[in-house]
Amino acid sequence: MATMESLIGLVNNIQRACTVLGDHGGGSEGMSLWEALPSVAVVGGQSSGKSSVLESIVGRDFLPRGSGIVTRRPLVLQLHKIEGQSEYAEFLHAPKKRFNDFAAVRKEIADETDRITGKSKQISNVPIHLSVYSPQVVDLTLIDLPGLTKVAVEGQPDSIVQDIEMMVRSYVEKPNCIILAISPANQDIATSDAIKLAREVDPTGERTFGVLTKLDLMDQGTNALDVLEGRAYRLVHPWVGIVNRSQADINKNVDMSNARRKEQEYFQSSPEYGHLAHKMGSEYLAKLLSKHLETVIRQRIPSIITLINKAIDELNAELDRIGRPVGVDGGAQLYTILELCRAFDRIFKEHLD
Ligand code: GDP
Ligand code: NA
Ligand code: MG
Repeated sequence: MATMESLIGLVNNIQRACTVLGDHGGGSEGMSLWEALPSVAVVGGQSSGKSSVLESIVGRDFLPRGSGIVTRRPLVLQLHKIEGQSEYAEFLHAPKKRFNDFAAVRKEIADETDRITGKSKQISNVPIHLSVYSPQVVDLTLIDLPGLTKVAVEGQPDSIVQDIEMMVRSYVEKPNCIILAISPANQDIATSDAIKLAREVDPTGERTFGVLTKLDLMDQGTNALDVLEGRAYRLVHPWVGIVNRSQADINKNVDMSNARRKEQEYFQSSPEYGHLAHKMGSEYLAKLLSKHLETVIRQRIPSIITLINKAIDELNAELDRIGRPVGVDGGAQLYTILELCRAFDRIFKEHLD
């Protein structure tokens, strides 16, 4: 019997297969396979630290970050755990190119963003799909999104505020989307855009994880214990406090392992947060998410099997329509996916109790 970890890996592979097939969750009737599988999306105000949190979860520097509107297209990031190989990344828009250098990944995200939006402050709904293969990641699909704003700035249409909100909403309103609601600790939680939107799309809070960033930037003499201990705003899942790299750290090229170590030290040596240190930080957040995903996937196994079988039927019908045997271009990919689906079906059935 496969381990739970490999089960999450399988789910990740199905999502990838669906992506390649062009099923990005916008299926016309019923729930598509993609939508049935859980993913994790960040939501929050501009510069609240969303991209930084995702980078910390991955443990690699590869996302454009900074002040102002940096993330301008959705980034669908699939992490695949691999054994004993060096890590690499691949984009759906450049499938033959393997990236070994994560600085080049960041540049490609920025260039590919500009390719659609131009070098502007405009946004686009068209997602960028990136897969990262590494021995150091947990299998996860993460979605980075532009930040919610209150006003249009120079070079943006007036509709940008609503456009961004609608884009973010279209991801986080999906019932299988796990929401990382990011709020900066140096702003009042009552004004948090992340919490406001999360509460609207997930009123029970079952799929919302509250993340409090910038704990290091709070005013002297104040602390975030009311939030972190759930008194200021109660959530179903516990709040996780984070200290990401500051802009100065980024400019000084402080690397990820150093940043994580500094974050750990921050909590452990803090007079206020010391007692919470084992439940704080980006490493803890990554583990918490992975565990939650396991639970969700376990609950979903029966419905995933149903959807896989529906996909098998549809693929068979499509292959019948184009006639077998099929040429390399059109049908071969369908065959591959069909074989994948059959394998997934067998393995998922093993996990049924
Ligand atoms: P996003 O716009 O929400 O994706 O935010 P980014 O991740 O791009 O971060 C915006 C800016 O805030 C960057 O300059 C980060 O270095 C900085 N930043 C994010 N999180 C923290 C944090 O926890 N502490 C400090 N000091 N700076 C942070
Ligand atoms: Na930003
Ligand atoms: Mg960002």
